[in-house]
Amino acid sequence: MHPVHWFLAALLAVGTSGLCCAGPLHAQCKVEWYFGIPCQVVYESLVSQIKKWRTMAGCTMGGQKCLYKLQSASVHFIAAKHTTPFERYVDDINFRLVSYHFFTCCHVSAMSISETWYAIKDHGTNYCNLYNLMEGSGLTEARGYKEITSDFLCTQRSSANCTVY
Ligand SMILES: *[C@@H]1O[C@H](CO)[C@@H](O)[C@H](O)[C@H]1NC(C)=O
Repeated sequence: MHPVHWFLAALLAVGTSGLCCAGPLHAQCKVEWYFGIPCQVVYESLVSQIKKWRTMAGCTMGGQKCLYKLQSASVHFIAAKHTTPFERYVDDINFRLVSYHFFTCCHVSAMSISETWYAIKDHGTNYCNLYNLMEGSGLTEARGYKEITSDFLCTQRSSANCTVY
């Protein structure tokens, strides 16, 4: 086979196997969260947690609960960045908040994507970027809390240890 054809065939094989079994080809995470509390409360909890974990302080004993940076915030959409404390990889995160049941409940669609395009394995970091904020702000204990995600939607979700990553 011609070298270029060989290369393309190999690329195609890697691409399809990645799509079929290993989850997203690029390190990223998408999670749907549901709460039996108003979006206003969810919004305030998330924003104050992002601000609380702005500095390096939360990571002196390890973990990733630090170096969050709020980019923009409205009650419908929050955008932020998270930098890993040692390697300094940057992930973009966002939360889209939609009220339902006459503003008594809140549906949050959250996304985290590594800016490094070649990051394929992330040890669940993109999931933890989102989950740590939910847990740190106490929202995982909120009324009606429900999480929907999977290894297909989140790189290495099932092996993620958010104490470390
Ligand atoms: C996650 O990592 C921490 C720190 O290394 C460890 O103590 C804990 O047992 C781990 N949790 C799981 C579920 O593996």
